[in-house]
Amino acid sequence: MKVLVTGGAGFIGSNVVELLVHRGAKVYVWDDFSKGDFKNLRGIDCEIICGDILDKSIFKKLPQVEAVIHEAAITDTTLKDNRLMMMVNYVGFENILSYCLKKKVKLIYASSAGVYGNGSSPMKENQKLYPLNTYAYSKYLCDMKALKFINKRGVPLIVGLRYFNVYGPKETHKENSASMIYQLFLQMRNNCSPRVFKFGEQKRDFVYIKDVAFATVEALKLNRGGILNIGSGRAGSFNEIISIINKVLGKNLKPEYFDNPFVGVYQNCTEADITLLRKHLGFTPQYSLEKGIEDYITSYLNVKES
Ligand SMILES: NC(=O)c1ccc[n+]([C@@H]2O[C@H](COP(=O)([O-])OP(=O)(O)OC[C@H]3O[C@@H](n4cnc5c(N)ncnc54)[C@H](O)[C@@H]3O)[C@@H](O)[C@H]2O)c1
Repeated sequence: MKVLVTGGAGFIGSNVVELLVHRGAKVYVWDDFSKGDFKNLRGIDCEIICGDILDKSIFKKLPQVEAVIHEAAITDTTLKDNRLMMMVNYVGFENILSYCLKKKVKLIYASSAGVYGNGSSPMKENQKLYPLNTYAYSKYLCDMKALKFINKRGVPLIVGLRYFNVYGPKETHKENSASMIYQLFLQMRNNCSPRVFKFGEQKRDFVYIKDVAFATVEALKLNRGGILNIGSGRAGSFNEIISIINKVLGKNLKPEYFDNPFVGVYQNCTEADITLLRKHLGFTPQYSLEKGIEDYITSYLNVKES
């Protein structure tokens, strides 16, 4: 199978590329390397198309593929340049969607749990959406646009994946936007008190990248389109993460709490309802928070990630 992965040099994209190549696919990575890191692709047999998803001239030169996995986006949710955020995340998505509709190519694209805002948990795909920042709003617009085409006559497969909080290898380049698990690990490895917002009971559905890459690639096999949550199905608190990292590192560091500067635009709890994920993909995430953090630290972070 020939697959084009946009944002393939990024965190989720490069893990998806690696899995696709491992399964024997011919993979083309389309990335402008504005954030993605070449190191994520080192040693992986794929072809690189270097450029911007807003550059329409590139669409004319794309190789023929059976599917596009669209991961490219501005992923720093605190970015103040709203115009750029909307252009890349929404107009870029529209470009990819138009291409797939025209060429009758399957499209799997990255949405986000951000679309739920502070909605009730566990979050269900059909509940009211209330994005709290421009990033989340851009993803909300992608979903609204996709829903106009999903499962319509003559339209190729379109699947939106609402990723929750993904963590794992190949996220280092994301710096401040990398997962909370990675940020806390860095502090604790250096014997610093892990710093979290008061009082560490904010909850996130942390989902390990190995489960995310697997679910994303499996989505190519679906024969009906839709929008699916990709989470572990369980919310863990920041205090809980600190205690797991302490255990894996054999330390006993106490958290330092500070005021949350993002009150009003901050999601206090996210937890995915994964009923549809189970039903449609027949898949239940394999990594609990403990198992995922242990695998991440012992197999990747404490070894070497450069
Ligand atoms: N990581 C998470 O927890 C998470 C959660 C929800 C949704 N998502 C979504 O998943 C997707 C992948 O996220 P990620 O965590 O791997 O982020 P990432 O920043 O590591 O990857 C994004 C990639 O897109 C590329 N890119 C950015 N603008 C581009 C452009 N104009 N043209 C071409 N390439 C461009 C970057 O260089 C980067 O390689 C994104 O769409 C993101 O919004 C991620």
